[in-house]
Amino acid sequence: MKILVVNGPNLNLLGSREPEIYGRITLAAIEEDLRRQAGRVGAEVEFFQSNHEGALLDCLHAARGRVDAAVINPGALGHYSIALRDALAAVDYPVVEVHLSNIYRREDFRHQTVTAAVAVGQISGFGPLSYRLGLEAAIELARRRDPGAS
Ligand code: DQA
Repeated sequence: MKILVVNGPNLNLLGSREPEIYGRITLAAIEEDLRRQAGRVGAEVEFFQSNHEGALLDCLHAARGRVDAAVINPGALGHYSIALRDALAAVDYPVVEVHLSNIYRREDFRHQTVTAAVAVGQISGFGPLSYRLGLEAAIELARRRDPGAS
């Protein structure tokens, strides 16, 4: 079973970026944690981060037919990128949207995400735990598609 974990703009700066909101854990540490979590159930994770909308779209397209589910933190793009929304709608694997912060407790412009409607579900507000919960959900969704997958 292969799960893709995608991170959008500015998430490469986790650890030093607005730590009062996003904490001090780096993206590399989150990825390492997810790799271990996936390993425990025999799943494989593949990571991608970009600050460029088109690169994210290319990555999601290229994963078609190759991954069983995906976790995405779209960053700010989730609030306004119809192109990202359409890419998520076009893929053949289920997607879980995650956010470190609780976007509904923050500025009004963060209350809406255009991507959530094409994700199976959204997890927001648990810090790094959002990714763990997201990965757990993605693994479960992948299993439902292919009950034989490890
Ligand atoms: C975020 C929330 C977004 O509003 C913000 O633009 C981010 C990070 C989060 O993980 O809490 O870049 O997606």
